[in-house]
Amino acid sequence: MVSVMEYQHTPVMPTEVLEWLSPAEDEELLVDGTLGEGGHSALFLDAHPTLHVIGLDADPRMLERAATRLAPFGDRAELRQAWFDEFFSNYAAERAPTRILLDLGISSFHFSGSGRGFSFRSSEPLDMRLDPGSGRSAEELVNTMDEKELADVIYAYGEERYSRRIAERIVRERSQRSIGTAGELADIVWHAVPGKYRHGRIHPATRTFQALRIAVNGELERIERGLEAALRVLAPGGRIGVIAFHSLEDRRVKHCFRAHNYRSKEPRDAPMSLEREPLVYVLTKKPLMPSEDERRRNPASRSARFRVAEKLQEREGAV
Ligand SMILES: C[S@@+](CC[C@H](N)C(=O)[O-])C[C@H]1O[C@@H](n2cnc3c(N)ncnc32)[C@H](O)[C@@H]1O
Repeated sequence: MVSVMEYQHTPVMPTEVLEWLSPAEDEELLVDGTLGEGGHSALFLDAHPTLHVIGLDADPRMLERAATRLAPFGDRAELRQAWFDEFFSNYAAERAPTRILLDLGISSFHFSGSGRGFSFRSSEPLDMRLDPGSGRSAEELVNTMDEKELADVIYAYGEERYSRRIAERIVRERSQRSIGTAGELADIVWHAVPGKYRHGRIHPATRTFQALRIAVNGELERIERGLEAALRVLAPGGRIGVIAFHSLEDRRVKHCFRAHNYRSKEPRDAPMSLEREPLVYVLTKKPLMPSEDERRRNPASRSARFRVAEKLQEREGAV
């Protein structure tokens, strides 16, 4: 497919995603809950000429980029600005999706071209909202949260061992002048951590930036709510695949799938607790990971973990 726009994000694990989520019949419906630049959706639409895709993204800029890429597919691609947890929770359409894909986190474009301070290497304003029209920006958080709250966020969402020192330094610096850019924050973190930590495998601000992004966008809560709601919306016999990029995300996917997993030893007519409905078969006992070759070609794929579950048919007890 030829396009004049330069896409910055390479779809992760394309072969595995297509293989595990490929539609079983004609005229199926895929909800791509994290459309991004539309890389995965384009692959599906190309490979399955009768497939219909609903593509969601919280970020209106991403929708614009994906719209250009998916224009050749006409009305087979329907794009909407939405958070996936809200979309699935409010889903009332008659047609249940037979495939759901969630490719979590942010896209390469967010780091390199969004101008919203996701990268500690930039001097962009510290915003980090995926939907710039709603919620509190990272700038607001770092300039207003109290020290303990800030340390807790950096620890819980960044798994940053120097969270207290970093929070203390942020509070000290902001008493002189407010923190406005990604570069200023990166510099504060750099000076807050011990010297030996500055030259490790990753930049010392990596975890703090991840933590703020997760907090700003409520990412982990959205994953929990979104997965529960997506399992309800999915058609019986349908499949959901989720790509996670760090342990905080992947743990939530694993727990949700496990909580709903059908155990073959249970009698089929056993009463089901409400939390366990609907039931699924977890198809990937261990998460799939990118091949060595993909990791080499696309370093951003390195930490990807792909899990897939299939919803049981109704006669077996699914709602
Ligand atoms: C990793 S990128 C997806 C890349 C895409 N699969 C591709 O091949 O181009 C994740 C996208 O999901 C969006 N996103 C993240 N969390 C979201 C949520 N809870 N609801 C809707 N969109 C979300 C981000 O704005 C980002 O564009």
